[in-house]
Parts: sequence; structure tokens; C-alpha cells
Amino acid sequence: MELTEDQLKVAEIELQRYLPQSLKIYGFLVLRNRVKSDPYIVLVDRWPKFSVIICKPQYEQKTDLFKDTMVFANDDAILMETIRKASVIDWSRYLCLGISLPHMEIVKAGASERNVPSDKLAVCHMMTLDDASKLPPVDCSGICLNSLDESHLDLVNQTWKFGKNQGAAGMIRNMVLNFPSCCVLDADGRPVSWILTYVSCALGMLYTLPEHRGKGYAKVLISSMAKRLSGQGYPVFCFIEEENIASYQLFKSMSFSEDPSYREAWYGFNDF
Ligand SMILES: CC(C)(COP(=O)(O)OP(=O)(O)OC[C@H]1O[C@@H](n2cnc3c(N)ncnc32)[C@H](O)[C@@H]1OP(=O)(O)O)[C@@H](O)C(=O)NCCC(=O)NCCS
Repeated sequence: MELTEDQLKVAEIELQRYLPQSLKIYGFLVLRNRVKSDPYIVLVDRWPKFSVIICKPQYEQKTDLFKDTMVFANDDAILMETIRKASVIDWSRYLCLGISLPHMEIVKAGASERNVPSDKLAVCHMMTLDDASKLPPVDCSGICLNSLDESHLDLVNQTWKFGKNQGAAGMIRNMVLNFPSCCVLDADGRPVSWILTYVSCALGMLYTLPEHRGKGYAKVLISSMAKRLSGQGYPVFCFIEEENIASYQLFKSMSFSEDPSYREAWYGFNDF
């Protein structure tokens, strides 16, 4: 069943019981219940004691490839049963789906029953900052900070690992126009380093132009955004790909921590 606006507020509270495993969907609901952005529908297997919750983007364009479907489950069998229902997941088009790594195996099994091919996009550490007062001091002197705006969409798309295509453009547009972002501007007012907020409330797309690396910009951005999100009552967390050791170290040095046994996975189902 699809949740109403009032039920979404109750679901946000219910998901607190399953933190940190439910953090991505919890963060999505915290944002969704406060900020208007691109439409999503939220489905649960039953109400109010749900075991599976699925946040599905309403695709506005055929090229909306990376607006991801996000799933949290606390019961393997009910997850499989839910995934098998034809009305829950549209397996006929490209689908980017994020869920915990063990549950991804269940989703992949459901997809292969329908002969839908799957492709690993990312397996990530989930890093959280429980208390913004633990952030180490950073030197912001001489650094000009601002939010990103519409004129920066292409810059972000061209530099994001999964970007450089129309498929990411809609997602980045939604993030820049609706959610908190922060960038370092050069003397001519051009962004040289930036960080965004995903629809799940996770910090992400952190990037510094190669010629500006090592100047402490990423640390300033993480610190500034973490304080801002935390000050607004939002959870502060991010997903770091397992291979990205430098970023993992960077967030560790900023007092982010993780449950080392937990991994979040994103897979693409069907070809583009
Ligand atoms: C990761 C990244 C954003 C860091 O940006 P930055 O502005 O250079 O970072 P800072 O100057 O604030 O440096 C932060 C710390 O990370 C270290 N660091 C940054 N990039 C590094 C790299 N490629 N390899 C090793 N260490 C690195 C710095 O040495 C510094 O640590 P220190 O203060 O202990 O010396 C930048 O390298 C980048 O854009 N990488 C490509 C995209 C990416 O991986 N984004 C992160 C996705 S989560």
C-alpha cells in the first residue's frame, strides 16, 4: 500500500527504531516530510507494523536513470514476497536500486526469476556523524562559501563519477534546486569544490577540481554542511565506495564513524 502524507510522518518515527540500518530511508523521510522536491511514492507491505518500505521515484523523463529506488526491510522472507509482486517494482525499464548488501542478494534473486540482468554500481561504507560538536576545527580563512545554483548543474554532472550523461542530469537538478549544497568559489565566483545532499539526506558528490586539491576545501565543506544539516535536525551521514580509501580516511578524520559490518549496495537492473 502507498503511504499518505500523514502516514509518512508516522513512518519516519517508526524507522528510528531500526537505526542505523534504516538511515537511508529515515533520512529520505526526514527530508521528504519537510522539503518539496521531485515526486516519490512510498510503499509498505502492511500498515502500521511494516517490514518492508520502498521509496520509488516518479520518473518524469525517460532519461531519469539515477533517481534511485530505496528499500529497507527487516524481514528477508517478506522482502522476497514483496519484490515478487508485479505491482511493486517495474522491471520493464532501467532501475537503479539501493538496499543493504545482504538484502541486495534477495532483490537480485527476484530479478533473475524474471530474467532481468543486474549490474553492480557501488558497494559503500555508511559513515555517520552522531554529534556535530565532535567535528575537528577547520581553517576557513580566506575561503568564500556559497550554495550551488542552476548554472552549476553541468559542472557537477561532468565531474560526478556516474555523471557525464542525461541520466544523471534530472537527479542532480533536483538535488541542487531543493536540498542543501555548499561550494568554495574562486576569485571569479566559480565553484572549485562542492558537496551536495542526496534525496536520502546523505552528503555526497563531494568533488574538488584537481588543480585545487590539498587546500583543505573538502574539509571545510564537510564541516560546514554537517553543522548546517545537524542544526536543522537532519541526520548527518554519507556513503563511501569501498574502493575510495582517500575519501574514507577523509571522513574518518572528520569524526565520522561506521558499523564496519554494514554495507549499502546500489545495482542497476536492465540495460539503459
Ligand atoms: C576527495 C576529494 C574531494 C578531497 O578534496 P580536497 O579539497 O583536496 O580535500 P582536502 O584538501 O580538504 O584534504 C582532505 C584530506 O584528504 C587527503 N586527500 C585528499 N585527496 C586525497 C587523495 N586523492 N589521496 C590521498 N589523500 C587525499 C588530504 O591529504 C587531506 O588530509 P590531511 O589534511 O590529513 O593532509 C578530492 O580528492 C576529489 O574530488 N576526489 C575525486 C572525487 C571523490 O572521490 N569524491 C569523494 C566521493 S565521497
